[in-house]
Amino acid sequence: MALSDLSHDELAGLESQLASEYAALADKGLSLDLTRGKPSPEQLALSERLLALPGEGDHTSGATDVRNYGGGAGLPELRAIFAELLGVDPDRLIAQDNASLSIMYDALTFAMLFGTPDSERPWKDEPALRWLCPVPGYDRHFGITQALGIEMIPVPLGPTGPDMDVVERLVADDPSIKGMWCVPIFSNPTGAVYDDHTVSRLARMTTAAPDFRVIWDNAYVVHTLTTDFPKVPDVDTVAAEAGNPNRFLQVCSTSKITFAGAGVSFLSSSEANLDWYLKHASVRTIGPNKVNQLAHARFFGDAEGVRAHMLAHRESIAPKFAAADEILTRRLGEYGIASWAMPEGGYFIDLEVVDGTATETVRLAKEAGVALTPAGAAYPYGNDPDDRHIRLAPTLPPLAEVEAAMEIVGLCALLAACRAAR
Ligand SMILES: Cc1ncc(COP(=O)(O)O)c(C=O)c1O
Repeated sequence: MALSDLSHDELAGLESQLASEYAALADKGLSLDLTRGKPSPEQLALSERLLALPGEGDHTSGATDVRNYGGGAGLPELRAIFAELLGVDPDRLIAQDNASLSIMYDALTFAMLFGTPDSERPWKDEPALRWLCPVPGYDRHFGITQALGIEMIPVPLGPTGPDMDVVERLVADDPSIKGMWCVPIFSNPTGAVYDDHTVSRLARMTTAAPDFRVIWDNAYVVHTLTTDFPKVPDVDTVAAEAGNPNRFLQVCSTSKITFAGAGVSFLSSSEANLDWYLKHASVRTIGPNKVNQLAHARFFGDAEGVRAHMLAHRESIAPKFAAADEILTRRLGEYGIASWAMPEGGYFIDLEVVDGTATETVRLAKEAGVALTPAGAAYPYGNDPDDRHIRLAPTLPPLAEVEAAMEIVGLCALLAACRAAR
């Protein structure tokens, strides 16, 4: 029965039953963690062979000796594989070092210091700087814009993308809005997948800022939780056709494909944007780690090799997502106090609890030995105005720990809802 349909006495009875279950669990001194979206040791083991690659004596790719300086755009052999996965021209994709977050940070820093190819002046010399942030979103994106002093404006994110009416209205009138974060496929944390209509509107919309940029973070482009791979929109072609060829800076990486600590990142964009990026990047490095890029090329072989590898990841983590879904449904389903969409890919579940109870749910879980990402983390400045969203990351712990932790999350969300209802 829905919580709202319970009588006062029934509610009190349920709360006291939950409180005793909670006390018993808290006494167990558990130490479980659903905070960060990291691959598990079992997933890392899938790439163990990479540690022996490219191997002694294997150090050329085409005419390039990967051991030496140079090759700022990265190895063509590996770029071809990821260009196919992203559906872009290999000449329009560069391979860099580990962490796409570095590319995003650098791109915004270069824009701040020097301006983009379309800027009238460096962004630091603008009277004000603003940035659109679909919410809930990725906390580290917001960390970059916050660190650079760019004011963040939240925009609601639905299952097929941001509210485009709001986005179009804001960017049309305000030249200080210089860009927007987007995670178009299996968004962190909701699992949203942008539809074609949203992509087309983002590419075509009129922006008051001539140098408006969409950071198109395709971090989860091949990270399926089903047996299908998502269709990848060709943003560059759509944007070029719309007369905005420099709008999108698309990034992705192998962080959650091979090793997060030793991966390769990629940037795909217009020729003008790539030339601009490489010109500034070449001041701070004489080339990326091409040995690691060759190792990755050897490891995957081709784009099909990446897909096969991602299906092995899926086998490892899909049961954890299924368990989380089953436990939330069993614990919370009948009470009508929470909602969550089971993602078809990516690394997270966004649990929406009763307004005003996310912080309390996270606190209760912590006291019972389950670490959760702080409530509000998926919002700019850590401020979820409804105190409703909790980001759950089930990939890292073993299945049994995910199950134990999710039982506690479900219990705490319900207990917090009961207390709020009284
Ligand atoms: C949306 C998104 N982008 C980027 C990253 C980090 O990517 P990288 O390891 O390539 O810096 C993450 C990691 O959680 C993410 O969720």
